Amino acid sequence: MKLFLDTANLDEITRVAEWGLLDGVTTNPSLISKEGGSFETIIRKICEMVPGAVSAEVLAPDYEGMLNEGRVYAGWAPNVYVKLPMTLEGLRACRTLSDEGISVNITLVFSANQALLAAKAGAAFVSPFIGRLDDCGEDGMKLIEEIMQIYDAYGFDTEVLVASVRHPRHVTDAAKLGADICTMPFSVFEKLAKHPLTDIGLQKFMEDWSKSR
Ligand code: G3P
Repeated sequence: MKLFLDTANLDEITRVAEWGLLDGVTTNPSLISKEGGSFETIIRKICEMVPGAVSAEVLAPDYEGMLNEGRVYAGWAPNVYVKLPMTLEGLRACRTLSDEGISVNITLVFSANQALLAAKAGAAFVSPFIGRLDDCGEDGMKLIEEIMQIYDAYGFDTEVLVASVRHPRHVTDAAKLGADICTMPFSVFEKLAKHPLTDIGLQKFMEDWSKSR
């Protein structure tokens, strides 16, 4: 499973890239708005730092506007994935941009049928938001299971990008289901490497070693 950071913060991206574990980055308008500087500058910079896919989301709500923005974003770097919302206009733009060879990530997916349509529209990635479903009392991971089952049944190439991840258990469960990608905030990425027994064990090794010197 590929591990992506869900951020537009360059310091966080630098840190995870240094660990050698970063496969890609997802951004959205909320994340971009938290950072200073122009959208284009941020996306270009991230694309230089990360060899993998970098998602940049359109703001236009209509087909023509999405095409215009998507084509511009795709010209910024070869690893830009144009993020389009899960609307009928978005699906239509997905088909057109995908046919032009531009990689598309369909975002704000909350049902298996939406994921089915994204795959049929030629999306490279589909982004189900599991945390926001959990927040509503639904089972976000159940949606991942359903999408994986449907995509396997029909051999769709669209990669399942598990988004709106809240904690490390989401990552484990996504991996168990065979999801292609999991994107997460820096705080969750950092927690993947941590376990209290690792820290306690390491401290004990060091104490025992220093006692014997
Ligand atoms: O990037 C999209 C998604 O991961 C958003 O997550 O935490 O705002 O639900 P969240």
